Amino acid sequence: MKDVILHIEHLSKTLGRREILHDISFDTYAGEVFGFLGPNGAGKTTTIKIAAGLLTLDEGEISIAGHDMRTQFEAAMAQVGGIVENPEFYKYLSGLENLRLYAAMRDGVTEERIREVVHLVGLDNRIRDKVGKYSLGMRQRLGVAQAILHRPRLLILDEPTNGLDPAGIKELRDILKSLAHNEGIGVMVSSHLMSEMELMCDRVGVIVRGQLQSVHPIDELIAATTPDRAEFLLRVNDPARATGLLSFLPEGALKMGEDGTLDLVLPMAGCDAALAKVNRALIMGGVSLYTVSKKENRKLEDVFIELTGEGGGQIA
Ligand SMILES: Nc1ncnc2c1ncn2[C@@H]1O[C@H](COP(=O)(O)OP(=O)(O)O)[C@@H](O)[C@H]1O
Ligand SMILES: [Mg+2]
Repeated sequence: MKDVILHIEHLSKTLGRREILHDISFDTYAGEVFGFLGPNGAGKTTTIKIAAGLLTLDEGEISIAGHDMRTQFEAAMAQVGGIVENPEFYKYLSGLENLRLYAAMRDGVTEERIREVVHLVGLDNRIRDKVGKYSLGMRQRLGVAQAILHRPRLLILDEPTNGLDPAGIKELRDILKSLAHNEGIGVMVSSHLMSEMELMCDRVGVIVRGQLQSVHPIDELIAATTPDRAEFLLRVNDPARATGLLSFLPEGALKMGEDGTLDLVLPMAGCDAALAKVNRALIMGGVSLYTVSKKENRKLEDVFIELTGEGGGQIA
């Protein structure tokens, strides 16, 4: 049986007069990175703040590592570590001094545990440097170290890669995966970027306008979005003649655009050989082939746009 770390059931939230979250239910498990994906304004931060105890839980149920947030709030909170806003540190103190200060406010965090978390986030070599000298990526990793000091079973991060450069994103991604896969922590990460989720997450829940649309294992999402057909655009000197020469193609495989560009759709299997045959037929028939370009494959991005409807609106 899967070890449920975060259990959310029928969560709704109204702020002012607006219902920001509507009937959200999902579980995240120990040892997985769960991605919470949605366009800006979808309700990711609101959900995360409620789960992290920063906003009140009005409607619905949440439990963390089996502790009900209503009836066992402190026990539940003891199992959560999070970065919701950018972590604040004392710039004139070292990373280590910052962690020690924070540890002093928590019960039972030993010097050994501090060393352990520093190692987990890969800051061993820089932990005695002043935080003022850290890159944003290093500060973010120090934030992760701080968030897991008390050994929470759930680590929640709200858009943690915002503002990081590609190298910083990769470092953080590797750390979060390792915390989940090697340390068994349940990691939940929100993002408005699919490409990021694809590389980091084991499962992804998609939230749009306060409603959870779907939850899928990432490989299922990728498989569902891997194309079985390839599409090419051909520019030729004589499109009508070309169409005649290519009449051996199956019905519907070739379409002529208004500008005379030919749109060719081939099954992915054997696509190279089929394309070679097309080329041969055109050239043998005296048609000049100016360019062949491959249309971009459908990616997770497209599925996201489909799921979110209306062209996905405010992604990125
Ligand atoms: N305190 C608040 N009062 C009223 N509306 C809010 C408040 N906080 C957020 N919202 C609205 O709730 C919606 C979801 O916000 P948020 O959870 O921050 O989305 P996300 O993190 O996915 O971008 C947005 O439309 C936002 O404007
Ligand atoms: Mg947000």
